[in-house]
Amino acid sequence: MTIPLRTTSLSKTYHGGIGGKGVQALKNVSLEVHSGEIFGLLGPNGAGKTTLVKSILNIIQQTSGSCELFGLPPSNPKARQKVGYLQENHRFRRNMTGRGLVTLSGRLSGMKDPEIRERGEMLLEKVGMLEWADVKIGKYSKGMAQRVGMAQALIHNPDLLILDEPTDGVDPVGRAEIAKIIRDLKAEGKTALINSHALAEVENICDRVAILNQGSVLTIGNVSDLTAIGLEYSISGSFAETCAQPPAEIATIISFSSKEIVARVANDDAIDSLTDWLRGQGASIRSLTQSSRSLETVFLELVENARTGVGGIRPSADKTQVLPAGEER
Ligand SMILES: Nc1ncnc2c1ncn2[C@@H]1O[C@H](COP(=O)(O)OP(=O)(O)O)[C@@H](O)[C@H]1O
Ligand SMILES: [Mg+2]
Repeated sequence: MTIPLRTTSLSKTYHGGIGGKGVQALKNVSLEVHSGEIFGLLGPNGAGKTTLVKSILNIIQQTSGSCELFGLPPSNPKARQKVGYLQENHRFRRNMTGRGLVTLSGRLSGMKDPEIRERGEMLLEKVGMLEWADVKIGKYSKGMAQRVGMAQALIHNPDLLILDEPTDGVDPVGRAEIAKIIRDLKAEGKTALINSHALAEVENICDRVAILNQGSVLTIGNVSDLTAIGLEYSISGSFAETCAQPPAEIATIISFSSKEIVARVANDDAIDSLTDWLRGQGASIRSLTQSSRSLETVFLELVENARTGVGGIRPSADKTQVLPAGEER
């Protein structure tokens, strides 16, 4: 199966910036979005996320490197036809209705009206906007506009959905609704690329993320791999005082109470030794979880490492690609 999206060493310099120096918005960005996954392109404002999406959609021309949509260059309309797009800061016409927007998008995709009507109803229902479909967009909240925006992006049943800051300016209820729609799409086997500067919001939706900063990819990986704190575990249950001091070759206790232990194990295999040892001390174990940190924390650590020239974060799994500080891809 062809990969929905691939960029290879993609770079983009905008000319005519302040002082005529140009802005290097993307620096050798290489990434792949696999079929069926929700991929998050995360990073602060100005990181280059929208520039990447515009290159992928042939809206702007990259300076060097290449993009592929389903194995084809984005200049090929056949490739772009498979993509649904909700742009950042869209300006849908305020005097158009939600249904009108969806219909327009369907016609622009070359669909026939009966099919647009049928799919349009289904999608407006799916995004919870059927009741509001004949109200003008000017009367919608930001969350409602984003939801009809998703319906218009999905009208031609695209294989890849690209959402640029889908939750920006949307209140918490609206954000939860958008997150649910994205999860439902994933359950249907859709592939999506989501741009967001709100790391905390998307970490629960995305399977994998790339963290972008100043045009460079800092890391790409599974959210769970990136956020897992390597060898740290929290164990709940009931523990005698003797459980507080395991042999050093097994683990070091970070915090101890009769109900919960946080321990750093000596190596990947030592968690089994630790639980065996604890049981040997008469402990009863109720749950065991690997400690994790937020993506926000991971991001700040990566930026700090890049700034100070220290290597990348401690990877907890092989699948996580961590780039040495200062290295561009
Ligand atoms: N058309 C443009 N001309 C000049 N500079 C631009 C243009 N579009 C974006 N930039 C600059 O490129 C960088 C990346 O912008 P952008 O891709 O919009 O980032 P993001 O979407 O992550 O916020 C920023 O420094 C931005 O100011
Ligand atoms: Mg943007």
